[in-house]
Amino acid sequence: MIKFISDQNLFQMETENYSYTIEVFKEKYLRQIFWGKKIEKILSANKYEYWDGMSFCIDEGPSEEIYTESLDLEFGQQGSGDFRTPSVEIYNESGNPYPILEYSGFEIIKGKPEIPGMPSTREVDNDNLDTLILTLKDPKKEIFVDILYSVYHDYDVMTRSMSVKNCSNKKIDIEQIMSFTLDLPAECDNEELELLSLEGSWARERHIETKPLRKGKTTISSNRGTSSHTLHPFCALTPASTTEHRGNVWSFSLIYSGNFVLELEKTHTDKIRVSGGINPNTFKWLLDPKETFYTPESVLVYSENGLNGMSNIYHRFFRDRLLPPVFANKERPVLINNWESTYFDFDHDKIVRIAQKAKEVGIELCVLDDGWFGTRNDDTGGLGNWEVNYKKLTKGLEGLAEDINKEGMAFGLWVEPEMVNSDAVILKEHPDWIMGSYKEKPAVGRNQYVLDLVNPDVVSWLTDLFTEIFTMTNLTYVKWDMNRYLTGQFSEYLPAHRKKETSHRYVLGLYKLMEALVTSFPKILFEGCSGGGGRMDPGLLYYMPQYWTSDNTDAMARLKIQYGTSLIYPLITMGSHVSACPNHQLGRSTPMETRLNVAMSGNLGFELDLNLTLDNEIELVKKSIEFYKENRALIQLGEFYRLLSPFNGQVTSWMFINKDKSEFIVFWVLDKAEVTYSQKVLKLPYVSEDMQYKTSEGVLFTGGELKYRGLKLPYMNKDYMSGYFHFIAE
Ligand code: DGJ
Repeated sequence: MIKFISDQNLFQMETENYSYTIEVFKEKYLRQIFWGKKIEKILSANKYEYWDGMSFCIDEGPSEEIYTESLDLEFGQQGSGDFRTPSVEIYNESGNPYPILEYSGFEIIKGKPEIPGMPSTREVDNDNLDTLILTLKDPKKEIFVDILYSVYHDYDVMTRSMSVKNCSNKKIDIEQIMSFTLDLPAECDNEELELLSLEGSWARERHIETKPLRKGKTTISSNRGTSSHTLHPFCALTPASTTEHRGNVWSFSLIYSGNFVLELEKTHTDKIRVSGGINPNTFKWLLDPKETFYTPESVLVYSENGLNGMSNIYHRFFRDRLLPPVFANKERPVLINNWESTYFDFDHDKIVRIAQKAKEVGIELCVLDDGWFGTRNDDTGGLGNWEVNYKKLTKGLEGLAEDINKEGMAFGLWVEPEMVNSDAVILKEHPDWIMGSYKEKPAVGRNQYVLDLVNPDVVSWLTDLFTEIFTMTNLTYVKWDMNRYLTGQFSEYLPAHRKKETSHRYVLGLYKLMEALVTSFPKILFEGCSGGGGRMDPGLLYYMPQYWTSDNTDAMARLKIQYGTSLIYPLITMGSHVSACPNHQLGRSTPMETRLNVAMSGNLGFELDLNLTLDNEIELVKKSIEFYKENRALIQLGEFYRLLSPFNGQVTSWMFINKDKSEFIVFWVLDKAEVTYSQKVLKLPYVSEDMQYKTSEGVLFTGGELKYRGLKLPYMNKDYMSGYFHFIAE
């Protein structure tokens, strides 16, 4: 709900539990007043402003003194005496910045406008959703900036974005435009706010990192052309005392898959300016007259219920309002993928044998990974030449799909549309179709080059090509891979003065390609992948409802990756597979039971040839798949809560619980055994005190017992052991 309280010039935005308040200050500037637990009324918004030595006034004359650096703002701009990170940097044709933009009006609309060419959170009929549009303009009315706040009342979520319209008759230069800016106090209840972010690398994605914020700027960003494995487009501010279960969290996420920035600037006035959007280091945009530039959308979530409270909001919201609706609440099949069992060395019969064994244990979908086309026998060639390799697949893709379907399994396929190797036939005809200049030897990564999706001809070529490939067989699933970052982020297609538009235009080209393909093939379940989880971001999840979380399939390493990823992403978006031992990435051997328990905590899959698995393990695999299928709705669509963190100790635990709290599963996994962990007691704060639960072994517990006394985990005397408890209310 959004209210304008005219006698106070306040905009009051309310979700079910939270408030966000903005004031139009002196009729010109936008002040951040409050974001937190719902408060009915604010009476003192413009009281107690203080003067800060050396700060500047926006307007002349003693009666108009407004010291901009003392103000908490919603829109920062240079030249006003606000030296913090600006929301926009826009220059006119002579290279001069525009004068200070002033508030010029508002509109409150039902629902939410789409962001042209970009993914954004969805609106569904009857959504309790309103949007506030605040407009700012320069004195000559040459540029108009809109700040959009969409309030999803029932989800406790607000999204923000901006746009700038060029109403002059000359081109304007946008050098920076954030999706959101706001100033927050640096303390909460006398505790300084700390920064929580997700950092990682290839095969070690989304590890949780927390650190105090010092004065100055802290930046989380990517300039790799994608959201990347390293820093993630998400962060949260919390007092140190906030835990998984309790405390305040303010968090920010960007629906964007390219170069992004999230910046936290702690000022001398003990405020934190938080801003986020497209990374200005690799961006510049020349905006033609009458054109509008739109930023990616950002998602802002406050929770007073700790990190689990925050995750719960993201999970529900992303599942219901970000993922493609057809797959949002659709149970995912158990799959087998041949990558780790064959790499490039496979043929028709080998894949069919893998599928036959997989079918025996209950697996539902067989995915053929890299190497089915061109001369792709290793990663040095073949990408871009998408004709089936009949030497390997003697019956072609259609024949393979048919044989797999005959076994009673669905068929899925790997592709990497954005990339080519140097032997790609298309490069002979169009050497300028790769990013950077082919002639000038751009850097290679995994022996491959990136196709220039800035060029609309490349996007149309790929759309037609992959439409044909996806039509060739009876496909129910596609794994869309992308195995290198973008170096040489300039497009041959763009004129010299627009080269710095390349990185953002690449992302727009990618979104266009994905939009076209996912729309043409609404029944195909697309799984995103980028050397594992290198582009697992809300932008991609808008098109592809699940992601290959990481190339690291070691169960112990996966604990941290899945734990960190679960901070914002629903478990139904996480591909998690059981692989062979010793593990191919780390050489570690872990019990089959543990590999299964970790992989069952997401979209269960397998990356090994089960023909080579020991009989007693096969029995376990069969039983686990049975259990998983019986409880798939609870795991994939239930609520998820983290209980013990792999970042803080040797035991990791999490639980899945249904909405009415009548059923739940608690998984636990031990890393290294120690005598002191043997008596681990786990409190379960998310169960109902009004219920009585029974485990599958028939042991009874009251909800209160589990909540306050806790559940004693089994004796932990072996490295990498694990287990689960399944409780049903009596
Ligand atoms: C990287 C992916 O993450 C792997 O799962 C596999 O598909 C390879 N690419 C294939 O090249």
